[in-house]
Amino acid sequence: MGIRMRSILVMGILGLLAIVVIGIASYKLSVTNALNEAKIKSNIILNYAMATKEYMKQVQKPLVKELIESDRFYPELMSGFVSARGTFELFKKTSPEYTFKQATIDPLNPFNKADQDEIGFIKKFGQNPALKSSEGIISKNGAEFFYFAQPIKVGNAKCLICHGDPYDAPKDQIEIYGTETGYNWKLNDTVAAFVIYVPTEAAIAAAKKLSFTLVLIGAGGIIVILLILWTFLNKSVVLPITELAERTENFSLGENLDDPVINKSNDEIGTLAKSIERLRISLVKLLQ
Ligand code: HEC
Repeated sequence: MGIRMRSILVMGILGLLAIVVIGIASYKLSVTNALNEAKIKSNIILNYAMATKEYMKQVQKPLVKELIESDRFYPELMSGFVSARGTFELFKKTSPEYTFKQATIDPLNPFNKADQDEIGFIKKFGQNPALKSSEGIISKNGAEFFYFAQPIKVGNAKCLICHGDPYDAPKDQIEIYGTETGYNWKLNDTVAAFVIYVPTEAAIAAAKKLSFTLVLIGAGGIIVILLILWTFLNKSVVLPITELAERTENFSLGENLDDPVINKSNDEIGTLAKSIERLRISLVKLLQ
């Protein structure tokens, strides 16, 4: 294999390796970025949902209580869980890709019923009281999501007025939700979880596209560099050496001995040419 081909091959293989490394690294980095982004979004959504819940509890509920009879209960005006769910349902109309759920094993409202994965989160929280949140990638209906979950505990005895014995619950609540589900919870039990789902597929597809584009640009760059290298080697190494070899071959046959070898370059090929020129002069002298 000639010098040209060997150099091109070595450069080509090194370039290819560099491109593969860059491609994999950029893909990994973009995916990590996409997941961080999804986590930030899920935190914003959760914080906002918590704020709507707290606003109900701190501002609206005390006012409503002053305005109504003491035995009445209007969930839409007095329950933070209802207001967080309701606000998010409206939010979902403009941003259908996101989901916020107050996933509950045994809920008053069937809308809040936990699915199999969510029951898993709730049970895990129940078994590890120190665990404050859980996050990761999950597949739902064939699509990939980042999820972020936080436990909901029956933190105080007040919860049991409405979620304990149905006999104690407000009559308005019984009228709306019945007495079948959402009751007989126990104090300190982890019964539910706030769960946020943020889609990751588009971001991961974008990461793939980015690394693919980088690899394509890199491959294009390498091909251009190899072409330049080929031309350079051809002009300054291969052609001069072929010419010198031809001249030396001719000298060995006694041909063209009067024609001096001229090469003005200052590199190794120049030195070789000078040596061959001296050889030619010696040959001419010897023959004379
Ligand atoms: C005055 C009654 C009342 C009290 C007190 C109350 N809740 Fe509820 N809770 C409700 C109602 C009504 C819903 C139904 C929400 C809906 O329609 O989405 C609900 C819903 C929930 C849900 C969603 C699952 C479901 O049952 O639909 C959770 C979780 C929850 N409550 C936890 C608690 C906790 C924890 C406490 C105590 C800090 C508490 N609740 C106190 C009335 C109450």
